[in-house]
Amino acid sequence: MKETQETIASLLQEGRTFYPPEELVENSNVKRFMDEHDIPTYDELLRKAQNIEWFWSEMAREVSIEWYEPYTQVLEWNPPYAKWFINAKYNIVHDALDKQAKLRKNKLAYIWEGEPGDIRKLTYHDLYREVNRFANALKDLGIRKGDRVTIWLPMIPELPIAMLACAKIGAIHSVVFSGFSEKALLDRIQDAEAKLLITADGFYRGGKVIELKSRADQILDQTTIENVIVYDRTNINPPMKEGRDHWWQDVLGSRKCETEIMDANDTLFILYTSGTTGKPKGVIHAHGGYAVGTASTLHFIFDIKEDDIWWCSADIGWITGHSYIVYAPLILGATSVMYEGAPTHPTPARWWEIIERYGVTVFYTAPTAIRMFMRLGEKYPQNHDLSTLRLLGTVGEPINPEAWVWYYKYIGNEQCQIMDTWWQTETGMQMISPLPITPLKPGSATKPFPGIDADVFDPEGNSLHGRNAGGYLVIKKPWPAMLRGLWRAEERYINTYWSAYPNIYFTGDAARVDSEGYFWIQGRLDDVLNVSGHRIGNSEVESALVSHPAVSEAAVVGKPHEVKGEAIVAFVVLKSGIEPSEQLIDDLKQHVAKEIGKIARPDEIYFVPDLPKTRSGKIMRRVCRAVMLGKDPGDITTLANPEAVDFVRKAASGEV
Ligand code: WTA
Repeated sequence: MKETQETIASLLQEGRTFYPPEELVENSNVKRFMDEHDIPTYDELLRKAQNIEWFWSEMAREVSIEWYEPYTQVLEWNPPYAKWFINAKYNIVHDALDKQAKLRKNKLAYIWEGEPGDIRKLTYHDLYREVNRFANALKDLGIRKGDRVTIWLPMIPELPIAMLACAKIGAIHSVVFSGFSEKALLDRIQDAEAKLLITADGFYRGGKVIELKSRADQILDQTTIENVIVYDRTNINPPMKEGRDHWWQDVLGSRKCETEIMDANDTLFILYTSGTTGKPKGVIHAHGGYAVGTASTLHFIFDIKEDDIWWCSADIGWITGHSYIVYAPLILGATSVMYEGAPTHPTPARWWEIIERYGVTVFYTAPTAIRMFMRLGEKYPQNHDLSTLRLLGTVGEPINPEAWVWYYKYIGNEQCQIMDTWWQTETGMQMISPLPITPLKPGSATKPFPGIDADVFDPEGNSLHGRNAGGYLVIKKPWPAMLRGLWRAEERYINTYWSAYPNIYFTGDAARVDSEGYFWIQGRLDDVLNVSGHRIGNSEVESALVSHPAVSEAAVVGKPHEVKGEAIVAFVVLKSGIEPSEQLIDDLKQHVAKEIGKIARPDEIYFVPDLPKTRSGKIMRRVCRAVMLGKDPGDITTLANPEAVDFVRKAASGEV
């Protein structure tokens, strides 16, 4: 432990640089690409790739994308809308599956482990067959190209099967994280106007069965859903509505299904993410560009080779799982590990057992998970053979030096580079990240991926690149997996991402770039929390609180938390006549969990008589947060009710 502390201290003081091992560099996919293109150095690669049309067309070839009909132009950029691989006929399922079923017929696509310990292994041929049978089921239930299908499934192989089956017939999938509540499911079904829901009776998590289907039943009447397909995972026999609900096994069709020939720019999926208002945003991704962007990044950053065993520990309900458990690894013909349950069930060594059991070679997880394991102690990983690992990665939030060192030492045995990848649901693919050839500075996501033009701007739009000064992280050129818009919310798309600076993508993150061009991401600027690497809108939690009959107003803010990164704190004004109580605090926490999902449950709730507001009535979260953290709230004389600042201070310090 003392040694670790010393390493951390030296990291912080020296800004130590970790150079990649020679062997990794020499054998890397990116080095081979550079040699083939006579590119002598990393800097030269980054420079050359700024010709984005050249670079991305080379990458499409590099990851062996097969178009049904070739594109006639790489990019059409009508800001703020980009189209990639113009006029190409394409379907991502061709590269992810149809082609693989021939090339890698008996290779494993997924090694899956259920929480109770059941194991399923699917070859590319198995996956192909199951996707075809399920795609025919969708067709039989009237699903056609362009229809929306909502998927509320846990981490079981049927989730990628359902997604690929939708894509195969040109339907648009909208996956809802299985940890979300039925209310969150309802919002997402309604917004997408989905015709079909695919779910399971339940799933295993932390030794318990979590029900899904019976909970979906509570909201289905309020939706456009015509049919429900239910996979029997836990044998709990939920009620089935005659004519509407069908068991997965009963609807499977024949093993043959033609893949729908799409335009490369047709929509592949919608994935909802949190924004600054209570309503989640439906981020749209398209077949062609998304395929090229996700496969290229996995190929270069995580250096996936034919015999690698890849494990991305995310849930497929988030973008990380969409891109790096489903689409990119399949396009590269890789073998992926997939795990259903809680990381520490039944023992804190579960993940390390999985790495040992399957000989995982490349492992990608979140800093919050690393911090949790760090607290549990190194004896758990130390009791397992993790020597197959050759590369590690993280995503979701900045990785703090303590966690970095622990991951490097106890998981990577000081042998593995750590790829700290910055990206977003909207970017679809990893955007700022080391490659195997990049010297690392712990805590920095290092440099933009080749072809990505990232910068940091001051409010006037001047570049702060190289000055080590904090500013707004922006992307100045389009990239292939870029979002194509927000589902039926064009104005919101323009306002959120394209109005800060003309024709420049605004990420919503703060960052600085040091004199060597390394990016240091500082976190979100807008009113979005990052709890255990999950994005949750402050106003989503506030709306949930206010929907409780006892609550009149609420302000939700984030507070630094050792494991989760950020904890959720709520200041609540009760309706008149309602008395504060411990019981009510529990009820409100429970209520938010029910409205949104457990991940959004507030850690702390304080009752206050009033909240600080502007004269126009806007609740000042910023002031609440500053006061809670004991910081200077700034000028409060312009508030409509400056006395409310004291209510918040007293509540947060336990004075009332
Ligand atoms: C944060 C997840 C620092 C960031 C793929 C971003 C990060 C948001 C990193 C997107 C990282 C993600 N370092 N911050 N390596 N990766 N973030 O849409 O604030 O769930 O805007 O996508 O997570 O979260 P999302």
